[in-house]
Amino acid sequence: MTTLSLPLNTVASQQVFAAVNEGLLSSPKTLPAWLFYDETGSRLFDRITELPEYYLTRTERAIFTANAAEVVALAAGTQALQIVELGAGSCDKTCILLQAAVERQDTVLYEPVDVSPAPLEEAQERIEREIPGVLVSPRVQDYTRSLALDPPLSGERRLVLYIGSSIGNFEPAEAHALLAEIRSTLAPGDTVLVGVDLVKEEALLHAAYNDEAGITEAFNRNLLHRLNRELGANFKPDLFAHRAIWNPQHSRIEMHLESLLRQIITIPGSHTEFGMGQDIQIEFARGETIHTENSYKYRPGQTESMLEAVGFTPLKTWTDKRGWFGVSLARAA
Ligand code: AVJ
Repeated sequence: MTTLSLPLNTVASQQVFAAVNEGLLSSPKTLPAWLFYDETGSRLFDRITELPEYYLTRTERAIFTANAAEVVALAAGTQALQIVELGAGSCDKTCILLQAAVERQDTVLYEPVDVSPAPLEEAQERIEREIPGVLVSPRVQDYTRSLALDPPLSGERRLVLYIGSSIGNFEPAEAHALLAEIRSTLAPGDTVLVGVDLVKEEALLHAAYNDEAGITEAFNRNLLHRLNRELGANFKPDLFAHRAIWNPQHSRIEMHLESLLRQIITIPGSHTEFGMGQDIQIEFARGETIHTENSYKYRPGQTESMLEAVGFTPLKTWTDKRGWFGVSLARAA
C-alpha cells in the first residue's frame, strides 16, 4: 500500500497533534494556550481586547500613552534605542512606544519576534505605513525555547518588550526561566519592559473572562473547532461549556472547557511522524474539563522581585489610577 503525503499532514499539524496527544491523554486534561491563536482565534482575541469587561488592553495602552516618553528616556539613557518585542504586538500599543522613540532619535530599529509569520507581516506592514522612521526587522522564532538575538547595532541599547500580560500564561517557574533567558541575551545597560495584570476584586477578574457578548467563550471553544479543522477530530463544541474561574491559591484565572455529558471523541491517527497510526479515542466523563489556559495575576512588587532574581535592576513601575495593571522597566545589571 502506498502512503500518500496529504497536504493536511504538515509539520504544523504534527505539532498540534503532538500537543493534543500529550494534553488530552493525560489526567487532568490540558491543552497549551498557544493553540488558541490560529487565524480565527487571533481575530477573536482582537475582539476580546475591545470588550467593555476586558480592561487589560485599554488599561495598559493608557499607561503607555501617559508614560511612553519617560519609558523611552529611562531605557535609552544617553544612547540610541532599538526595540525588540516578544510576540508581534498589535500596533496600537507598541506604536505608542515606537512613536516616542522616533521623536528622540529619528530612526528606530524594531525587531518583533513571533512563532508565526502572519502577525509579523501584519505588524511590519502597518508600522512601516504609520510611523516613518521605524525600520521593522521581523524574526520567526519560538522565544519560549530560546531567544538568540543578533548583536545590537554599535552604540545602541536594546529595550525588550514583553507586554500585554503575556507572561501571565506561564507558571511562576516558567515565567522566571523566560525572564532569565531574556536577561542572558542582553548586555549590561539594556532593558526589559514587562506588562502584567494585577490582582483585583474577583468580580472584575471574573467579568473580564466571562463577557456578556460571549466572545471569550467563542475564543475558548475555537480550540475544539481548530482540532476538528486541522486534525479531523469530531468534537461537537456545543457539548463543552466555557468555564473561567478565579483560583485564589494560585492567583490565576483558569479557563476550562467542561464536557456536558459522557462522550468519546476520535482523532484520526494520520498525523504521526510516519503519516499513519492508530486513531486516538478520548473519553470524557460528564463534568470533566480540559484546562485550556492560566492567566496569572500579580501583586504589586512581585514582577520587580522576579526581575531582580534573574539579574535585572528594577528602574520604575507605572500603573493606572486604579492599580489594575502594572508596567515595569528593569535594566540588565
Ligand atoms: C493574551 C494571555 C494576556 O490572559 O488575558 C484573553 C488571553 N484569554 N481572554 C489573557 C485571554 C482569555 C490573554 N493574554
